Amino acid sequence: MEINHSEIFPSICSVSNMGDYEQACEHFNWEDIERHFTWYETGKCNMAYEVIDRHVTEGRGEKVALLYSDPLREETFTFRQLRDRSNQFGNVLRKYGLSKGDRVFIFMPRSPELYICLLGILKIGAVVGPLFEAFMETAVKERLIDSGAVALITTSSLLGRVTRSELPDLKHVFLVGDTVEQQDSVIHYHDEMASASSDLELEWLDRDDGLIMHYTSGSTGKPKGVYHVQNAMIQQYYSAQIVLDLREDDIYWCTADPGWVTGTAYGIFAPWLSGVTNVVRGGRFSPQDWYATIDKYKVTVWYSAPTAYRMLMGAGEEILTNYKLSSLRHVLSVGEPLNPEVVRWGYKVYGQRIHDTWWMTETGAQMICNYPGMPIKPGSMGRPLPGIEATIKDDKGNTLPPYTMGNLAIKVGWPAMMNRIWNNKAKYEEYFRVPGWYISGDSAYMDDEGYFWFQGRVDDVINSSGERIGPFEVESKLLEHPAILEAGVIGKPDVIRGEIIKAFISLREGYEATPELKEEIVRFVKEGLSAHAAPREIEFKEKLPKTRSGKIMRRVLKAWELDLPTGDLSTIDD
Ligand code: WT7
Repeated sequence: MEINHSEIFPSICSVSNMGDYEQACEHFNWEDIERHFTWYETGKCNMAYEVIDRHVTEGRGEKVALLYSDPLREETFTFRQLRDRSNQFGNVLRKYGLSKGDRVFIFMPRSPELYICLLGILKIGAVVGPLFEAFMETAVKERLIDSGAVALITTSSLLGRVTRSELPDLKHVFLVGDTVEQQDSVIHYHDEMASASSDLELEWLDRDDGLIMHYTSGSTGKPKGVYHVQNAMIQQYYSAQIVLDLREDDIYWCTADPGWVTGTAYGIFAPWLSGVTNVVRGGRFSPQDWYATIDKYKVTVWYSAPTAYRMLMGAGEEILTNYKLSSLRHVLSVGEPLNPEVVRWGYKVYGQRIHDTWWMTETGAQMICNYPGMPIKPGSMGRPLPGIEATIKDDKGNTLPPYTMGNLAIKVGWPAMMNRIWNNKAKYEEYFRVPGWYISGDSAYMDDEGYFWFQGRVDDVINSSGERIGPFEVESKLLEHPAILEAGVIGKPDVIRGEIIKAFISLREGYEATPELKEEIVRFVKEGLSAHAAPREIEFKEKLPKTRSGKIMRRVLKAWELDLPTGDLSTIDD
């Protein structure tokens, strides 16, 4: 595919110094990007068409779209093959009455079928909801209930975590993979696909029709269903060009699972909107496995997360002698603060500057980034994409001068902005409490060259290994344990994971604080919620600090943990 940067983005083809960047910002126009899409002419869109079918129509059908592998399986798919299979699955879904606007969820580990199903869902205009494979019963149930999902695609080994009797809206369950026994009331993917036609009439949509839902955590309440629409593709494509710097012959690898937004926006949409070959590696992380993946596929552009880079750093330089990483041209990071030390190490060891990028599930695409060629200040997230306006605001909505810490805010109106929080208008509106602005929940400052520096979350949301965890969810799960009277959960700084989950717990009468009980509690959260939400540290306390209205004061717990002053305690009970 011809991607001529200077043609598509005349003003920003070389963001190589401050002058060019500022010029790019000044001349920026979203319509220049919109022209790339077929709907610019036709008026009707479908993400699955733009990421897959279009490449077949335009003569790139035999190009490799997906290089899939995991420890047990290895397969390659061209754009034509993905078009045909996703058409087939679209037909299967239609056969069972599914159509535009229905929420269809996917709950399975990475496999080619996950990608085929996701595309098939989009082809019929349904809204896809990918769930991370490590979710346990409660987490799965909450998301399916809240979204009103009518169909779920899963595997026989995960089916046990789907409590169907409690899910009245869920009409169909599709099972992918070999099943030991014939299960009643499930639909077998492979049987259906064997007889499904690969001709499909696409559902043509409007730009504000639904695309995808990702659940994400806040500091209070249940996970929120962040709902995105087709329009997100504009910014996902644009950022693939200027931030990922994707070019025709790239072999691109985003390490994120599609259960999280990075794994869909940048593990599916951005690379395939650009027509590049996409590497998906399933299975568990190990430094050897990851380096082998880069070496084997000759990965050129690599998008991963700080925790992974820190783990690779921890594995040392020695193992690198076994792998060739010289194919790498561009390396990026997202999800949590990228330590300057890691940037320097990456430069020394990979010969690559790791480009930090900042965005959120809610923003739908990259917002503040380091661009190829731009001077990197290690520790800074970079500068807003041309077309995006970011600033720092105080709690009243006043803009703050450089070097002053405050709320990281974005001017509303960027194309990939979430369209709603499913079923929760009030939560959605909270983000926009300053008229015209999106308040991110992160605190940061801007320097005098317009670079943004992350300082922390404004709320109690925990970021462990780049995954967002709401303390309230973990606390709620803990309270279901018979031994636990009260629980307060905080993020405790950790060199590898950024933060780990620490739980402060007071026990009911008759229970004893033993190491065995700690282990049991950890297992309880792992099995009930998910492994990544389980506390890595537990401390038993006689009593927990609470407000008079009974809310656990996490701020005080954090101060205890970090040996900091506890601050204003006027609302504390007792
Ligand atoms: C939160 C969003 C969408 C990317 C995956 C995470 C933190 C994200 C950075 C960065 C420091 C970062 C923020 C943000 N975060 N990128 N480059 N530097 N912190 O998406 O799960 O929606 O989490 O991740 O706190 O608010 P998410």
